[in-house]
Amino acid sequence: MSSPSVTPPASVSELLRAFPVVLAPMEDVTDAVFRRICRGVGAELCVTEFVHAQHMVARTSLARRKALLAPDDQPTAIQIYGPDPAMLMQAAEIAAEARPAFIDINCGCWVPRVARKGAGAAWLRDPAAMVEMARRVVAAAGMPVTVKTRIGLGPESHMPIIDLARRLEDVGVAALTIHCRTAHMGHTGVADWAWARRAREVVSIPVVVNGDVRTADDVARALDETGCAGVMIGRGAIDHPWVFREARARLAGAPVVPPTDAERAALYRAILRANVAARGERAGVPVTRRHLAVLGPAWARAVRPSLFAATTVAEVDDVLGEGRARPAGGPPAPTGDATMEF
Ligand SMILES: Cc1cc2nc3c(=O)[nH]c(=O)nc-3n(C[C@H](O)[C@H](O)[C@H](O)COP(=O)(O)O)c2cc1C
Repeated sequence: MSSPSVTPPASVSELLRAFPVVLAPMEDVTDAVFRRICRGVGAELCVTEFVHAQHMVARTSLARRKALLAPDDQPTAIQIYGPDPAMLMQAAEIAAEARPAFIDINCGCWVPRVARKGAGAAWLRDPAAMVEMARRVVAAAGMPVTVKTRIGLGPESHMPIIDLARRLEDVGVAALTIHCRTAHMGHTGVADWAWARRAREVVSIPVVVNGDVRTADDVARALDETGCAGVMIGRGAIDHPWVFREARARLAGAPVVPPTDAERAALYRAILRANVAARGERAGVPVTRRHLAVLGPAWARAVRPSLFAATTVAEVDDVLGEGRARPAGGPPAPTGDATMEF
């Protein structure tokens, strides 16, 4: 008698084939609220903010919040980081309990509080140790494990990423995301996608190219120039979450339709309300300011001072033109048509 069929989880390759544009992990940004917002405008595969392995193992409330995946929050990968392989192995086992799409190991964060302690991009100082750590995490996780890293520490004459890609594939890493800058570059300079292409050429696991992909045209160009299985978008999605919808259209050969002003206002209000529901008004109003750019450059510039002064939902609504203080020259108040369900 055959057992009832259960659909196996999609592999990383299948997820990227379904839609190759991934929302990047971003601390204090890609929480459950923002992942939902991005999926409302076309995103599919998302990655959580990074979670410190030690916090995961101690099951702190912060780690639990970051790694909690609601049933409709799929496909989402959980990203972990830390300097200690044994701790990362345990963290991966715990992360797997949340049934993420896969587990991603951060080997690319250049921020001193992370890298100085041997985590993130510090793994690039010792590629052999990084590969051995990845091998152990793969063995412990019981599910696909991916690595997100940079092309090298900088300024090596030849970046280690090509050799690393091969070796990470050899130890069972399921996919590799390459932020095409060195660690020393931080977020400065231009991401050199050619390194993702070179790495892709030497492995058969999916490679995801990351860095400076901001528009639907960038998505098409990055896929075209690198032949990678996917692209990952970070800052571009903070400012313009519609990039996912626009990339879908662009890849399907359909016209790319930018958001209307009413959609822009509706999305800002949706992010605000979701943040307030998740964190309370006192924290939810200020964290939403990070997304000021969704209003579009001209309007964002005009309302910036008043939006940064606003501390309540009502005040923000006023600034956006919902109430008394509708800004001169701002877009019309959102109509019912533009109300978005997130
Ligand atoms: C605010 C912020 C937070 C970030 N947090 C993380 C993180 O938690 N894990 C990670 O791997 N990368 C993190 N990154 C890096 C992004 O995932 C991405 O690699 C980088 O921003 C380059 O892509 P972009 O040019 O599309 O922004 C962060 C970036 C930003 C701007």
